[in-house]
Amino acid sequence: MIVGIVGCGAIANIITNYALEGKLGVELKYFYDRDVERAENLASQLDGRAVLKIEDMLDHVDLVIEAAAPQAVAEVVPEILEKGKSVIIMSIGALMDSDVKNNLENLAKENNVKIYAPSGAIVGLDGIKAASIGTIRKATLTTRKPPKSLGIDISEKETLYQGKASEAVKKFPVNINVAAALSIACGMDVDVEIIADPAVDRNVHEVLVEGDFGEFRTTTKNIRCAVNPKTSVLAAYSAIKLLKSLNEHFIVGT
Ligand SMILES: NC(=O)c1ccc[n+]([C@@H]2O[C@H](COP(=O)([O-])OP(=O)(O)OC[C@H]3O[C@@H](n4cnc5c(N)ncnc54)[C@H](O)[C@@H]3O)[C@@H](O)[C@H]2O)c1
Repeated sequence: MIVGIVGCGAIANIITNYALEGKLGVELKYFYDRDVERAENLASQLDGRAVLKIEDMLDHVDLVIEAAAPQAVAEVVPEILEKGKSVIIMSIGALMDSDVKNNLENLAKENNVKIYAPSGAIVGLDGIKAASIGTIRKATLTTRKPPKSLGIDISEKETLYQGKASEAVKKFPVNINVAAALSIACGMDVDVEIIADPAVDRNVHEVLVEGDFGEFRTTTKNIRCAVNPKTSVLAAYSAIKLLKSLNEHFIVGT
């Protein structure tokens, strides 16, 4: 399977490093970034090709990874799906806009391809998907990050947001993919609290879900990417695991 990537930042760097170890199971070959030097840098490491326009890769790939930005989802993903190629979307916050999500889902159906949204920087989506077969009554997310990771500089802990995920996504578009993933998996607009906390050095996500199945709580304390401290290493790993699973014949977890 030949794969292309849109967005050559922190996530793409980790995927490329893993591919260099020869364990990815797919061929990461095409690279596109609006900063062409970034695309060229990753392409040169894997003997791949940096392209100047997304359409230059679409005839040659089986699947594209979007690892760019929420705006890129509406900009480039329709074109990928219309070309009959499946896509992995990392900027899942963009899918909180139901018009965008419905449009992409329809395009995927019409073109008989798939949209994958990896679990990203959060654990427990497998349990939530199973729980959603019954009724989920409550789902909350508390995100605690170092201020730098939220793009601010403060010395005291501060709650930056308390409310629904749909609004949080608009206020913190590059930092709240987990709220979107959780909401989509639950089928409800989850309650979100975002705290800037100088006392933590990791991106921490606490999830509580209650429903017919009982209840669970998860805490994920993420190591941040060196290239981009807003992004957690686990998010890149989840994309890698998804890519590997496309060729696996035994799938564990929902
Ligand atoms: N699902 C999750 O849990 C999760 C976790 C972390 C990050 N993310 C999301 O994944 C995306 C990538 O994260 P990252 O840390 O690698 O970001 P990054 O900022 O390190 O890199 C993004 C790259 O994409 C390029 N880019 C941005 N918009 C573009 C566009 N419209 N067309 C082409 N290139 C474009 C930038 O030049 C940059 O090189 C972000 O949207 C981020 O919010 C999701």
